[in-house]
Amino acid sequence: MASKSVLVLGLMSGTSADGIDVALASISGAPTHLHAKLLGHTSSKFPPALRKEILRVAEQAPITAGEVSQLNFHLGEVLAEAALAACRKFRVSPKRVALIGSHGQTIFHQGKPAPYLGHATASTLQIGEPSVIAARTGITTISDFRPADMALGGQGAPLVPYADYLLYRHEKLGRVSLNLGGIANITVIPASARPEQVIAFDTGPANMLIDALVAHFSRGRQRFDRDARLARSGRSIPALLDELMRDPYLKLAPPKSTGREYYGHAYLKKVLALGRKHRAKPADLIRAATVFTALSVVDALNRFVLPKTKIHQLIVSGGGANNPLVMAQLSAALRMPQALRLAAGIPSTVVGARYIVPLHSRGHNLAAIEILPSSTFGIPVDAKEAFAFALLAYETFHRRPSNLPSATGAHASAVLGKISYAPPQ
Ligand SMILES: Nc1ncnc2c1ncn2[C@@H]1O[C@H](COP(=O)(O)OP(=O)(O)O)[C@@H](O)[C@H]1O
Ligand SMILES: [Mg+2]
Repeated sequence: MASKSVLVLGLMSGTSADGIDVALASISGAPTHLHAKLLGHTSSKFPPALRKEILRVAEQAPITAGEVSQLNFHLGEVLAEAALAACRKFRVSPKRVALIGSHGQTIFHQGKPAPYLGHATASTLQIGEPSVIAARTGITTISDFRPADMALGGQGAPLVPYADYLLYRHEKLGRVSLNLGGIANITVIPASARPEQVIAFDTGPANMLIDALVAHFSRGRQRFDRDARLARSGRSIPALLDELMRDPYLKLAPPKSTGREYYGHAYLKKVLALGRKHRAKPADLIRAATVFTALSVVDALNRFVLPKTKIHQLIVSGGGANNPLVMAQLSAALRMPQALRLAAGIPSTVVGARYIVPLHSRGHNLAAIEILPSSTFGIPVDAKEAFAFALLAYETFHRRPSNLPSATGAHASAVLGKISYAPPQ
């Protein structure tokens, strides 16, 4: 069933609020014969003042509706410029691009209903006005992917599992796709899985906590711990790590999703207090947060995945895949989960892109999990989520559902998003 391929741009700006990742994809066909190829990717950083404003709004600082409205339209301009800059870089005329899928900037996410005006209410808000994107680029833009799933009782997240399923499902291999953005999330795809057998959830913080600590200790001069330089210079404090690992979110059964509402400023304050209690220097605390990032993923695997599902490969994407200590720690901990307690002693050697580790988890004594960056599959780690939203936009444009109810908790499938048409020529 060969169909003509179309060009789709995916725009992703995640909870790290570091900037915009853009992916250009060529897509044809329909599931189960959908073909998607990543042609290029690029990213642009938000100017510091814009990033500060996004974080202020997303941290629920006192703000007015007027400010949210202005930020929505301004972000629309910035997203449109990122899309046009990507077209220039890829030497593709915007006229040739059929669609844009724009995730938008999440400024609020309450996945599970919480009391509001006497009613249990769940809601989510991604901004970056798509009408502006469509008008500036002349490209029909699909946005606002999450609400349709929530309207059906889902948490509106995670949505990338649909793309994970299309990209990574394997007849013989059980795979977990791990994305290390601001938040860490996994998609579990058992060997020869049907869509309803896929489970996915947020495991805890990824870069959000590390970034917040680095910004705090450098008084905003540094935004993240490049190549884990600070973390690697820190001491291990096992008791501190133990306390981090007692985070109640880790024990919550999936489906579950989280964000800046939980792992934002209030959490940073808690971790800083823990640091003082354990007399941790800044680098010690950054090290603990980095190790915690990896071990909270391993904890989720041990608790909710490995007892039920045989996993052969862990495929890692997101900015956190560039953090050598996170990757080394993942490998070390998967080799010996007892490291959950001893972890602080594990050497922070930089590990290669590809390695096989035996796993000694309950019932899986002889299993081995291979850890691979998504680039092994032709998807650079920083392009993965943007690529996924190009795919989701393509599906929506063809009126096909793309939430996985088993991942979001929705009681039915939904066609995700809203369409802002390009102005007529
Ligand atoms: N070389 C690196 N060393 C350590 N951390 C990195 C590196 N490159 C990127 N990161 C981390 O990745 C984060 C961005 O990840 P990203 O996947 O864009 O997250 P999000 O989807 O939440 O925006 C940065 O804030 C930083 O913490
Ligand atoms: Mg980002």
